[in-house]
Order: sequence, then structure tokens, then C-alpha cells
Amino acid sequence: MSKTSLAAFPLAALLALFSAGCRQDMHNQPRYKALAESSFWGDERSERPAIEDTVARGQLRLDAARYTGKVNGQDVDYFPWKITAADIRAGQERFNIYCSPCHSRLGDGNGMIVQRGYRQAASYYSAKLLKAPVGHFFDVITNGYGAMPSYASRVSADDRWRIISYIRALQLSQTAKITDVPAPVQAQLKAGGPATEVPVADTPTARLNWAPPRSVVDNPGHPELPAPFSGEFPPAYHAAEQAPAAGGQQ
Ligand code: HEC
Repeated sequence: MSKTSLAAFPLAALLALFSAGCRQDMHNQPRYKALAESSFWGDERSERPAIEDTVARGQLRLDAARYTGKVNGQDVDYFPWKITAADIRAGQERFNIYCSPCHSRLGDGNGMIVQRGYRQAASYYSAKLLKAPVGHFFDVITNGYGAMPSYASRVSADDRWRIISYIRALQLSQTAKITDVPAPVQAQLKAGGPATEVPVADTPTARLNWAPPRSVVDNPGHPELPAPFSGEFPPAYHAAEQAPAAGGQQ
């Protein structure tokens, strides 16, 4: 080390000390802990009440069918958006995590927890559940059913629909006939080979009312809200619409 750099050392150390002090000040800025008292506002609360008639970003739940599975108190019998193969796969993953411990990966109700003594879970192949509208499944996952607890806090509303789409696929897997698949795929299956994936519109899943034509915004309780936009979208919007955003947060 040269003489000059040795002389500069204490200065550098001092500077480092000061700048560390500044950093601490920036880290510990004045702030309130949640629900702490404050003398600043008249009501002595540090929290400000939500402003009337405002909704936090991402919390708008206008589509009753999508967030409750019901319209006018009736279970809906359609999915709130057009289900894609990716949705069904995501549903399978969520199903295997949250439902299979009791319902088993096959959905016959004999999961490991049931084998170890938990109350018998429902089989999705009962005549009742084969006929049950998808809104009923949404209700069961959201609110629980008999001995089954609610999964609302662990499974988001959109993931519930994805799980239900997978349950429909499970049901089809046990009840479909070979004539339900398009002719070219029938030939592949008869030859014992793997079948190629076909677009949803060509398969029996299309018969499960995946997405009937309906208005995007379903707000019968709020006639004061503006009607959904019905004019021409600028070209850039169309591009965004084609992104795989189906099923995302509203
Ligand atoms: C801790 C075990 C357990 C888990 C996990 C579980 N269930 Fe259940 N489920 C049950 C039991 C037990 C029943 C039968 C309830 C009864 O008869 O009291 C049932 C019944 C049902 C029914 C039939 C309701 C009816 O109308 O008869 C459906 C549908 C269902 N579960 C779906 C699901 C889905 C979807 C998941 C995953 C999100 C799930 N369950 C996770 C235990 C479970």
C-alpha cells in the first residue's frame, strides 16, 4: 500500500460510516403500524376509511356467475369463460393438490385420507353429480358441503372453475363412448395409438355448455352502472384481446 492510500483510509472509513447512517434513516421512515392510533385525524385512527363507492383494484366482482356460481340464486350450468386445454391442465394440477387427498386422483371418493378413516368423500360418477350443474360444484368448493370444508381461502375463484373443468373431464373419461370423439380420432384410438388433441369445439366437451353467448358484464343489481362498451375497439385492443388472458383477474 502506498503512503497516500494509507492516509486516505481513515477518511474513507468515516465516509462509509456516515453514508451507512443515511441509509438507516431511509430505512426507518416514519410510518404507522396497521390500526395504530393517530392524533392527526379527528377520529384518532391512522387508517383512512375506504372512500364510498370506490373499489380496490382487482376487487371488482360484477360478474355474479363467475364469483358465486349463481345467477338469481340458481346454480349456473355454464362456465363463465371459454375453457381452454390450458385451463383444464391447470385444473388438474389444483385438483391433485386440493381435492385428491379425499376424492382420489380418479375422483371416486377413495382418497388416502378416506382410506385412513375420514368420512367417505363423494364419487364424481354418482348419477347426482354427473347431472349436477357446474355452479353446484362451485358452491361446494366455496362453502364446503357436509363433512367437506370450504376451500375458498385456498383456491381462487378462477382456479375453482378450472378444477371443475377437470372434474368434467374426469366424468367424461368414465362415461364417454368411442362415438363421442371425431372420426379421425376414433380410428387412432381403435388402432391402439395415442390420439391427437382436437380443438374443443369438435369434442363432446362442447356439449357441456362451456360458454354460451352472454353479455360480458352481468350486473342486474346495478342498473345505474354504464352498459358494456359496444362500439368498435381500436386495432391495438384486438391484439391485446387475443393474448391468452382468458380467465385472468377481471
Ligand atoms: C378433507 C377431505 C376432502 C377434500 C380435501 C375435498 N373434499 Fe369434497 N367431499 C368430502 C366429503 C367427506 C364429501 C361428502 C360430504 C358429506 O357427505 O358430508 C365431499 C363431497 C364433495 C362433493 C359432492 C357434494 C354433493 O352435492 O354431494 C363435491 C362436488 C366435492 N366434494 C368436490 C370437491 C372438490 C372440487 C375438492 C377440491 C377443491 C374437494 N371436494 C376436496 C371431502 C373432501
